[in-house]
Amino acid sequence: MSTAPQIVTTIAELRHRIKALRQDDARIGLVPTMGALHAGHLSLIQEITNHVDVTVVSIFVNPAQFAPHEDFDRYPRTLMADAEKLGVSGETDLIFAPSVGEMYPPGFATRIEVAGPAIGLESDSRPRFFSGVAVVVSKLLVAAMPDVAMFGEKDYQQLLVVRKMVADLGLNMRILGSPIVRERDGLAMSSRNAYLTADDRKIAGQLNVILQSLIAELRDGAAITTVEESGKRALLEVGFKSVDYLAVRDAETLAPLTNLDRPARILAAATVGTTRLLDNMAV
Ligand code: PAJ
Repeated sequence: MSTAPQIVTTIAELRHRIKALRQDDARIGLVPTMGALHAGHLSLIQEITNHVDVTVVSIFVNPAQFAPHEDFDRYPRTLMADAEKLGVSGETDLIFAPSVGEMYPPGFATRIEVAGPAIGLESDSRPRFFSGVAVVVSKLLVAAMPDVAMFGEKDYQQLLVVRKMVADLGLNMRILGSPIVRERDGLAMSSRNAYLTADDRKIAGQLNVILQSLIAELRDGAAITTVEESGKRALLEVGFKSVDYLAVRDAETLAPLTNLDRPARILAAATVGTTRLLDNMAV
C-alpha cells in the first residue's frame, strides 16, 4: 500500500516544511498544478525527480486566471484522488493545497503583467489570463523558493511567460519544460478533456493530426500564411466550432515569422462543443 504525501494548506506551513526538507543541501523542486491530475501532470513530477531531491506539488484552482464566463466553478476538484495518485507514483514529498483565502487574502491588490511572450495568442481570447497565472506562479515560487520548477510544453506560451517573468525578476531558480503527454490517438492530455462528449472526443483527436500534416506541408516548402489559413479551414471542416488561433511562431519568443529560418512552433487553440483545446508542436 502506498501512502499519500502530506498535504499542507498554508504558506507558513509550506515554508516551515521546506526549510526542514532542505537540510543536508537537498535540492527542492516545485510542480504547480490545478489538480485533476492525469498522466501529463505525473510526467512533470517524474521528470523533475531527475533534477531535485525533494518534490513539492501544488494543487490550486486559481480564480485569478479564469474570466467570469469561464469554467472556474465547474473545473474538476479532486484533491483526495489526486493525493492518492501522487502516493501511488511515489515521487511527491509534499502537497501544497491552499484555499483561495490563503492565496488571495482580503484586500489582495497586486498584479503582475508580463509583456513579451504573453502578447497575442492566448491573450487575444483571454486578456487577463497570463496576469492571473503570473501572480499565482510568482506567489508559489516565492513561497517555495525551489531550485527547479517544472512546466509542461502543453501550455507552451505559459512556459515561456513564466520563464521570462522569472528571468526578469531575477529569481534564482531554473524553469524547465517537459514534453506533451498524449492519448493513444494523439490528443494532448488535459483536465478539461473530461468535458468532452463522445462526439466531441472524436473531433478533438483530429487537432494533433492536422497540426502534424501542417508541419509536413511547411517542411515541403509551403508558405506560413497559407498553412495557417488551410489549417484553420481544416479544423472547422472536421467539426471544431471555432478556432481562436492557429499560428507558426518563433519557438523562443513567439514572435510572428515570415519564413522558417529559426526554430519554430505551431500553436493552436480551438473549441469543440463547449471545450477549448490547446495543442502545439515543434516545426
Ligand atoms: P494545469 O493545467 O493543472 O497544468 C499544470 C502543469 O501541467 C502545467 O505546467 C501544464 O503545462 C502541465 N500539463 C498539463 N497537461 C499536460 C500534458 N498533457 N503533458 C505535459 N504537461 C502537461 O497550467 C496550469 O495548471 C496553471 O496555469 C498553473 C501553472 C498551475 C498556474 O495556476
